[in-house]
Amino acid sequence: MTDLDYDVVICGSGLAGLRAAIEAAGTDPKLRVAVVSKLQVMRSHSVSAEGGTAAVLYPENGDSIESHIYDTVKGSDFLADQDVAERLCNEMPQEVYNLDRWGMPWSRRENGEIDQRAFGGYSYPRATYASDKVGFFEMQTLYDACQRFDNIEYFNEWFGTSILHDGRKVRGITVIDLSTGQFSVMSTKALILATGGAGRLYSFSTYALSSTPDGLDMAYRAGMALKDMEFVQFHPTGILPSGILITEGARGEGGYLLNNKNERFMKQYAPGKMELAPRDIVSRSIMTEINQGRGFINETGVECIKLDLRHIGDETIKEKLGGIREISIKFSGVDPATEILDVRPVCHYMMGGIHTNIDGATELTGMWAAGEAACNSVHGSNRLGANSTSECIVWGKITGKLAAEYALDGMPSEPFPHNLVKLEEKRIYDGIFRGRGDVNPYEVRQEMSDMMTEKAYVFRNHDELAAGLKKLRSLQSQTWKHVDDSAKEYNTNFVNVMELDSMFRAAETILVGAINRKESRGAHTRIDYPKRNDDSFLHHTLAYLGPDKPIMRTHPVTITRYEPVERKY
Ligand code: FUM
Repeated sequence: MTDLDYDVVICGSGLAGLRAAIEAAGTDPKLRVAVVSKLQVMRSHSVSAEGGTAAVLYPENGDSIESHIYDTVKGSDFLADQDVAERLCNEMPQEVYNLDRWGMPWSRRENGEIDQRAFGGYSYPRATYASDKVGFFEMQTLYDACQRFDNIEYFNEWFGTSILHDGRKVRGITVIDLSTGQFSVMSTKALILATGGAGRLYSFSTYALSSTPDGLDMAYRAGMALKDMEFVQFHPTGILPSGILITEGARGEGGYLLNNKNERFMKQYAPGKMELAPRDIVSRSIMTEINQGRGFINETGVECIKLDLRHIGDETIKEKLGGIREISIKFSGVDPATEILDVRPVCHYMMGGIHTNIDGATELTGMWAAGEAACNSVHGSNRLGANSTSECIVWGKITGKLAAEYALDGMPSEPFPHNLVKLEEKRIYDGIFRGRGDVNPYEVRQEMSDMMTEKAYVFRNHDELAAGLKKLRSLQSQTWKHVDDSAKEYNTNFVNVMELDSMFRAAETILVGAINRKESRGAHTRIDYPKRNDDSFLHHTLAYLGPDKPIMRTHPVTITRYEPVERKY
């Protein structure tokens, strides 16, 4: 075992992690900042963000921060904390210009201004974009900006296993260098968890295979709450059969959704916004069309509807949607410039995550969470498209600054708790590396994520959710916790078992939260409780790790400006 010591440790190297690193490192060159990731930086799932980053750039054309705040709160089905939404919208324009200064190749208008496109649920075109590869270019821009700092060190392909703390304050993390199998302790004064979302809990998913809840689970096992986990976003247009994202930008540029009567069916559900209603509404509409017999059957046998981009024209598709054209051709053999795409709702985002306050501070002193791993409640029960990359950047900056200031506060580094390290070594080496069993963990992972796709999808009800929970617990009790490959270097069997272990606990919080929330709000639609119920459920859900099941609590929603009303689009 080796010991490492830093002032600020950032777990996760996506948009939130890198933005935090820039801010922390820039606060004082004396600070030693570590960025720890189970991946190589440019493999972080943030590189897959396609369509846009929301910000108000042109108030002179009628847009306003106030309108962005209201759209975000209304989109959230009034579960967003309104002070947090206000912060996002106020801070974001400057972040677009920061990225611009750091070299971000934003798409531009003829006159050279940064362009923006329409996205679902917004009153103005507000998605700032770079063709349809926004995340890729933002990541490259932030990573380039990081190179200006000598005080950032990268630990690529290091897997964080647990948070070390004394019950009150963070002390560090335990990590395994995947290239050698070496177990280490990384002491730190301040910790930022920015490990991204957990969308691989679902088998039909836009996420990278690496998007598992290991970061969330580190916080959960350390005694922190996971908040609002029942709210899982299903993006309306996952391409078949893979589920890869076809950006909302495709509808922002004018794409139509069609049923088998060749109707633009969104006119029945959201006549004012049509295909650009918020995602929860579009996904429900698609599933209603399918369930009522107006869908199509893809050649794989899966039911779907059609996305028609042909009328947008070759030139625009090439310039603004080149990425999804390539994806469509490569992964489903369809060129959207000349043919219609088969799509259906796909797991795309977790509104839930590690419970934080407006500053991204967690319940553990010295620890913050940012980006999709966090739930600062900016998105409530349904996020608007393009608000996620914005959130990553804004709370990357905020938490980077606060963690740096905390680390500079002059406290001496305190020793880490040796007993916890011993326990962690035992958990990993005795519990996993030397585990025994005859059940294949890859098969269990597949079965579990298929179960989530089947039982906790767009439309939910008590019986299905309860059956899902039963299945989850039965899978969890099987003997899958073993690593048959004894190699120390790049032991992917080990990574899979660690990920699966975290997936069980996170999936349980989703299912229990969804069973308990007996209403329909945002992305959580209960066919047995079809109405929103503000009297009983206008609150956040907190899940704490209990001895044999999550301990559930509630947390108030901050309402500063807008009383909840019925959403109409
Ligand atoms: O459709 C998209 O491009 C996704 C954007 C987002 O999730 O914010």
